Amino acid sequence: MSQLNLGVFVSGGGTNLQAIIDACAGGRIDATVTVVISDKADAYALERARSHDIPAYHVPVGKNDSPEFTAADRRHVELLQNHDVDLVCLAGYMRLIGPNMFAAYPEAILNIHPALLPSFPGTHGQEDAADYGVKVAGCTVHFAWPEFDTGPIIIQAAVPVLPGDDGASLAARILAQEHKIYPQAIQWCAEGRLRIEGRRVILEDARPPTIMEAIISPGLEI
Ligand code: GRF
Repeated sequence: MSQLNLGVFVSGGGTNLQAIIDACAGGRIDATVTVVISDKADAYALERARSHDIPAYHVPVGKNDSPEFTAADRRHVELLQNHDVDLVCLAGYMRLIGPNMFAAYPEAILNIHPALLPSFPGTHGQEDAADYGVKVAGCTVHFAWPEFDTGPIIIQAAVPVLPGDDGASLAARILAQEHKIYPQAIQWCAEGRLRIEGRRVILEDARPPTIMEAIISPGLEI
């Protein structure tokens, strides 16, 4: 199995980046993070990368559709190609991805969203779910499309919403599941097992679920 080279985009604390780095180091996924890119110079996620000797770059993005945004889009592709990236992982990255990125990495950009898409898209998915009064919330890893939070869904994990939950307590419970499903989605990409048919993602060579898949999708029989 050849290793996938990952380019990870971050904007904040980088706990999903850390989960991916740890999964690579632990041999749980056949991948290596070769570059980390952030729109925020002070993103702690950049410190996480540097502490693991992973090249980390701040790329200012400016306003959507501005000349700076276009320059950043081109710079993103240049950095990814300089680091031989095969798969792009948006991990807490809060900006749009530009057209040059989609052209360079067709069906090779993943994103994680802290809600069960298509419910609660946008930047406050956990809080919106808690405020709505849902009884089940969760997270989604999907292929990124130009429009936020709309691409074909690869894997989801569900968590209960407990009495007294607010956005923060629910976000913490969801985050623990994010750190499981993102490495799983990356491993399925490394195994070449994902096929996109319209909006649907087919997991090929589906076999009796692994323990991890069973944990993530408790409804599976093992
Ligand atoms: C996560 O819930 C992620 O889904 C959302 O931002 C939160 C923080 O992510 N986009 P991280 O700790 O920076 O990975």
